Amino acid sequence: MQPSIQPVHGRPVAPPLIGGEIPLIDVSDFLAGVSGAAEKAAAELRYAFEKVGFYYLAGHGVPRKLIDDTYEAAARFHAQPMEAKLALKVDEHNIGYMPIAEKAPPNAAAQGKKPSQNEAYFLRRERDARDPDVISGRRFHAPNKWPADLPGFRDTALEYIATLEKLCQKLVKLYALALDLPETYFDACFAKPHMILRMSRYPQIDGADESVESLVPHTDSGFMTLLPPNKVQGLSILLPDGRWMDAPGLEDAFVVNGGDILHRWSNERFLSTPHRVRNVSGQLRYAIPFFCDPDHDTMIECLPSCQSAETPAKYPPIKFGDYALWFAAQRYGHMSKVQAPSETEIAPGERATSRWQA
Ligand SMILES: [Fe+2]
Repeated sequence: MQPSIQPVHGRPVAPPLIGGEIPLIDVSDFLAGVSGAAEKAAAELRYAFEKVGFYYLAGHGVPRKLIDDTYEAAARFHAQPMEAKLALKVDEHNIGYMPIAEKAPPNAAAQGKKPSQNEAYFLRRERDARDPDVISGRRFHAPNKWPADLPGFRDTALEYIATLEKLCQKLVKLYALALDLPETYFDACFAKPHMILRMSRYPQIDGADESVESLVPHTDSGFMTLLPPNKVQGLSILLPDGRWMDAPGLEDAFVVNGGDILHRWSNERFLSTPHRVRNVSGQLRYAIPFFCDPDHDTMIECLPSCQSAETPAKYPPIKFGDYALWFAAQRYGHMSKVQAPSETEIAPGERATSRWQA
């Protein structure tokens, strides 16, 4: 019999802190169904999101070999000739290969930065030509663009995506509990989550030039980002006190953060924390972040547990798909000419980044 899971009202519980700052949350007992484990992990998750916006996820159950194979797949993809990669050039659904930009997109230019120095290849949920959303041309619901000559690449990438999808569908129960909601609160909108696997390759940069970053400081747009352990470091996190902290690499833990939609949905209770990448390691760096968001029909409307007479909702409701399109049009040069909802429609208000720059 499944143990009953109780709400976790009360103060957040401090988990162990890596580097004295970033919580480490072990979910192995929760995933094994141990009584009381969900409540404990949820209380720690609440601490992580109210204080930092990032945490290390241990006990996740994702096989090391699958992670290694996916890094290897990313390296194989980017080792192809440029001609082969450009044959899969990123499209209006943000699927495919994106070379290093020639012109800084708005978020980089606004910070006086040159374009982020990384190439990226984007995969989303696998769809075929018979998928109704493909037939109707629904934005961000198009087929993936697979490389022609990389045996085993597709199978590895799809296994990684499927494994992380299942993990995220379990983790959202902890997010619900951490937000004083029933544990099943997010289940429906993550029944078929919107997912992005980004395979990035970072050349090394000149660390002395402040205008050049591997990935310029930014907050993520969505609900949940998972970064598997990386042999080559480079990620830094902007702590709430304004210090940049290099995130230590842990051998078996994912680095997980929330994004702007979690921040907005929770009425700014859960943080969306700025971060950046600087690859000064002297070698190529690869990253395989997985972004897991609610399906695009989900209405992002202030969660009932995050508003009160004293703390009314700060943002109007929006559909997640509209928000995702608005964000992509702002962030990516190749999306800038796509018709997207206006700033006024999305009414983003004051975003996490601007709050911490004040
Ligand atoms: Fe990010």
